[in-house]
Amino acid sequence: MSRDFLTFKRMGLPGPTPLPIVGNVIALASEGTRAFDLNALNKYGKVYGHFDGFAANLVVADKEILREILVKQFNNFPDRFSFEEFSGDLRHGLANVKGEHWKQNRNTITPTFSSGKLRKMGPLIQKACDTLMKTSRQLIKSGDDGQVEMKRLFGGFTMDVISSTAFGIQADSQSNPDDLFVKHAKKMFDLSVTNPYKLLMMYLPALKPLFLKLGVCIFPRDSMAYFRKLTSQLLDERRRNKEVDRNDFLQLMINAQEGRLELGDEDSKEQGDNSSKQNIRCLTFDEIVGNAELFFAAGYETTALTLTMNAYNLATNPECQERLRQEIVEKIGSEKIDSENVTKLQYLDKCINETLRMFTPALRIDRVCVKTTKVKDITIPAGMTVTVPVYAIHHDPEVWEKPDVFNPERFSASERANQDPLDFMPFGYGPRSCIAMRLALLEVKMATADIVQNFRFSVGSKTDIPPKMEDGFFLKPKHLWLKTEEIK
Ligand code: HEM
Repeated sequence: MSRDFLTFKRMGLPGPTPLPIVGNVIALASEGTRAFDLNALNKYGKVYGHFDGFAANLVVADKEILREILVKQFNNFPDRFSFEEFSGDLRHGLANVKGEHWKQNRNTITPTFSSGKLRKMGPLIQKACDTLMKTSRQLIKSGDDGQVEMKRLFGGFTMDVISSTAFGIQADSQSNPDDLFVKHAKKMFDLSVTNPYKLLMMYLPALKPLFLKLGVCIFPRDSMAYFRKLTSQLLDERRRNKEVDRNDFLQLMINAQEGRLELGDEDSKEQGDNSSKQNIRCLTFDEIVGNAELFFAAGYETTALTLTMNAYNLATNPECQERLRQEIVEKIGSEKIDSENVTKLQYLDKCINETLRMFTPALRIDRVCVKTTKVKDITIPAGMTVTVPVYAIHHDPEVWEKPDVFNPERFSASERANQDPLDFMPFGYGPRSCIAMRLALLEVKMATADIVQNFRFSVGSKTDIPPKMEDGFFLKPKHLWLKTEEIK
């Protein structure tokens, strides 16, 4: 990590002038990540540098350079900047581990998200969708003029999906918000921006050595202890009852721990040559706990936010909502939505993509350079973090005309044929992109199709237009109320 404020000048790169000690953190915190990145891109172009405290942060939106960093020279940029020392059990999760260790763990865990495994998870998602319909009815009745807060509604749904697909637990968080599991999960995985340690570490990574001395952990220790104990109990129980056929991540990771990760024919084909046994390794107990917790941390809020912002887009664009409902009527009728028939809904796919473009939950992604590398005419030194301003790329008017307008047709087959994958990367890009993209999309599509088949969203007196958003780890609305009516 460079402590030299002249780093980018020497590299011949522009960027905002850093202040002593804090670098450019004050501007970033006061403007918010979205405005900061959009303004900086406008002012300095597609490659520039800024400082998070002393840490030099190279920002790249240039597609040719990104292709080198994220794919072609990935071996020199394999890691993510992380707070692993402060993340308790999560430091063993896939998102935090580094280099060769990451490669082996990714190979081991990848089959967990294969098409075959996802199909088997379909009924678990369907069950959570049934509860979502029930909860929607209850919230409409109790709400002011049928207005429902969407983050709460969809947060309960994604919590149910993750608890059943990750731990094999039927938490029913939508009806039992006081359940111990639900309480700890919410406490632990609500990545709110109000935690002062998270804020300080996000903006001032230079304080890392001080926090290490203080033994800081960014997740609540009691909740972490709860999940560790729970995982240990579940593992014991499953070793005793081997005959029960389960399809959750925990079971698939136990199989990996015991070195009996079996790949079906379809799975082997998807894994290509990497499926051979030498590329996968047994997971340790710590890695099972860390990954089970990580699936929550990475999957609960991101998916709920996508559902929330998509409902907002449909409510504020009623003609798009009607077109989607019509597509459901024509292609599915009154059949129950499942993981097979939902794939027929092409307009749904366009709407979800457009929502992920406009309101991408992860505003930025990053990579750490581990070996000094020349990319085009820039020499990136080992240790430097490269940030990809995903939100700003998704709102680049050179690529996306009127970027703040919801227009699902941007994702029609003909438009997509002319797009560069680096213009649209809500799940990141390259070997380290989101491992669960297909699960997330399946979950979002099934819940949206089910709810649009049964309910109509519209703007109510409590709906903020545009929504008031928070720029934290994730892009999320402070709250999002929509008038919701059941279609009889
Ligand atoms: C709409 C929902 C989701 C979005 C938008 C999303 C987005 C992302 C992004 C942007 C990354 C970083 C990619 C990169 O650095 O190139 C990521 C990584 C990751 N995501 Fe997701 N994600 C979603 C849902 C999920 C779910 C449901 C899970 C788990 C069940 C999950 C598990 C992970 C994991 C484990 C990683 C780290 C991968 C690695 O380092 O190898 N995500 N996700």
